[in-house]
Amino acid sequence: MPRPPHVPIVLALAVALLAPLLAAGPARAASERIEALIARMTLEEKAGQLNFETADWSQDRGLYMSEETEDRLRRGLVGGLFNIHARGVARRAQEIATRETRLGIPVMLGYDVIHGYDTVFPMPIGQAAAFDLERVERSERIAAIEAIGDGVNMTFSPMLDTSRDPRWGRTAEGAGESTWWATEIGRARVRGFQTADPRDPTGIAACPKHLGANGASKGGLDYTAMEISERELREVHLPPFRALVDTALCFMAAFNTYDSVPVAANPFILRRILREEWGSDAMVMSDFGALSELERHGVAETDADAAEAGIRGGLQMDMASTFYLAELPGLVRAGRVPAALLDEAVRAVLTLKERMGLLDAPFARFEASEGRTETSPAPHRAEAQDFAERSLVLLKNEGDVLPFARSVRSVAVIGPHADAKFEMLGSWFGRGVFSRPVSLAAGLADLLGPGVDLRIVPVAAFEGATGDETRAAVTAARGADAVILAIGEAAGMSGEAASRTDIDLPGRQMDLVRAVLAEGRPTAAVVFGGRPVAMEALAAEAPAILKVWFPGTMGGTAVARLLFGDVEPLARMPVSTPRSVGQIPVHHDRLPSGRPAIKWPDVYSSNYLDRPTTPLFPFGHGLTWTRFEFGEPAVDVRRLTDDAPVSVTVPVRNAGDRPGTAMVQLYLRSRFAPISRPVMMFRAFERIRLAPGEAGTVRFRVSADQIAWWQAGDRFAAAPGPIDVMTGPSAGEVRTVRIDYMP
Ligand code: NOJ
Repeated sequence: MPRPPHVPIVLALAVALLAPLLAAGPARAASERIEALIARMTLEEKAGQLNFETADWSQDRGLYMSEETEDRLRRGLVGGLFNIHARGVARRAQEIATRETRLGIPVMLGYDVIHGYDTVFPMPIGQAAAFDLERVERSERIAAIEAIGDGVNMTFSPMLDTSRDPRWGRTAEGAGESTWWATEIGRARVRGFQTADPRDPTGIAACPKHLGANGASKGGLDYTAMEISERELREVHLPPFRALVDTALCFMAAFNTYDSVPVAANPFILRRILREEWGSDAMVMSDFGALSELERHGVAETDADAAEAGIRGGLQMDMASTFYLAELPGLVRAGRVPAALLDEAVRAVLTLKERMGLLDAPFARFEASEGRTETSPAPHRAEAQDFAERSLVLLKNEGDVLPFARSVRSVAVIGPHADAKFEMLGSWFGRGVFSRPVSLAAGLADLLGPGVDLRIVPVAAFEGATGDETRAAVTAARGADAVILAIGEAAGMSGEAASRTDIDLPGRQMDLVRAVLAEGRPTAAVVFGGRPVAMEALAAEAPAILKVWFPGTMGGTAVARLLFGDVEPLARMPVSTPRSVGQIPVHHDRLPSGRPAIKWPDVYSSNYLDRPTTPLFPFGHGLTWTRFEFGEPAVDVRRLTDDAPVSVTVPVRNAGDRPGTAMVQLYLRSRFAPISRPVMMFRAFERIRLAPGEAGTVRFRVSADQIAWWQAGDRFAAAPGPIDVMTGPSAGEVRTVRIDYMP
């Protein structure tokens, strides 16, 4: 292949190395009508199919289509529209696309549906904490049904990035630090959005993101580099995407670079891995404006270079930069881009439209949602409440401060989250602002009734209380039967482009906490946040801590019910909580050290001088209203083969005086292998509900695929050797039984 002119050296190198992959290759099986359409399309119409542009929006008009947008649509220059959230506009766009263009090709109508649409569910990290796949799936089903009502037919979700740095604001959008759990959640979300049949008019097409390793962002920053080993890429970041190859119709390429090449133009990821190794024929969409960012990454000098790099790299649809529309026809005419490459991308876009049923029934989703009267009906809100209740993690409960007794006469609710409504939603709240989220104060008032003296002391700034606010807080807490500190991060402190260098409680919140704790009343801190907040001082000083993430539309009701014991805490931490940012990265599945930190302080071992290496709260941590004893794991046989899994049983006893549900977790480690393997990897969990004094047993099945590691290409396998099977209530408290893998 001739070296493409103007493409700078890094990219040219990547292109040269992967030259055999860059020819368009044999056309993937597409239907005859797609081939017939491609044969009739002009170069401009082809580039138009690859153009996914934003619909127009203004303060006074809301969402609309300008004359220019309508004109482009009519000329077949738009393949899809983004940020659709108004049925009339969506319908009009589909009418123009199907009835007023030369070829009548329908458009995709997209929106980011991340944790609900009108009804907002807990932030994804909170959903992950619920460890409940059925609820994840149901929440996406509801979100899809609500989104369809506004004309949406595809979404840029789920976000499957494994987060290794809680400074990264997008930790809030993912499933946490466990690749296995992110994989399970990804499957459930796609099922929820699409149902079993992506043509189902009550479903929307999912576009899992961000293919690559967005969660490995350096320094916790967005839009930048991930310079990690290929093993980490393959084992930690790609498996959730690999698992969706048979169901996802689309993947969104990550913004960041891998091996110094932005993923939007990275043939190693988008061609070699995705196409050649995985055999995926999903369409690849860019992230918002990613093509234009190639210039700032320094791998393209001009818009034309960027478009060429993208199409050669394997990026098929251009979200928001319009570079493909503007540049590809000229590049093909000039012979810089082979026509077959353009056809390959158009084929992928049309195949996606066909697979989601658009080519056959472009209005089916409008028809399926005809006559909708309510945007966030009561059953959806009930589901949101139920899910929120299951996402709350009881981190600490010294002296059984919680649950508070229902007989209380006075309750003080203090802090920036005391009566905040929209803060309940977190980032990516869809259309949820219009469905009136329930604040904590409202949830408490509703639960406790008018007979209880509810002393609400909102604090205006998340950075800390003023003197007056602190005095009011102390007065409210004085003599109160229960005190609730509603603190933590504001919704805008996590999410996209919301990274922080300090992930402790913001600003001077601890001053307020200390002033209130000094009153000596039964006090619980309710901590909001889209990441594991590194609350070292709070953990030492507050007797009870409930981590509530951003619990969504019904958050206030859910949190109130848990605080007063109407629901039991079932959630567990899907991420490790660092003691301070200096400990990052801290995650359960780290590689071993040649000199492990056995105790602290210690000399000449992998220790920090000023703090233990262990997290403040380990992965999987979460308390209940009772106390459980977890016994030694036992195995039925000691030999694990490829054909015969090992059965592991774990005895559990409720040693407290309240009924409760234990969550037993299973971690595995390949003890000796040709390469160093993580000290533990979360692989399964089981719940068991036990009455006070009751004992029971949970059972796991350990199979060889659970310990497999990346070998080469798409191949994962384990080598014979000893395996540690660890079970317990969290990654920080396990008991071990050893088995042998002998395939
Ligand atoms: C940028 C984000 O990275 C991506 O997740 C999102 O889907 C797009 N913007 C569109 O909003």
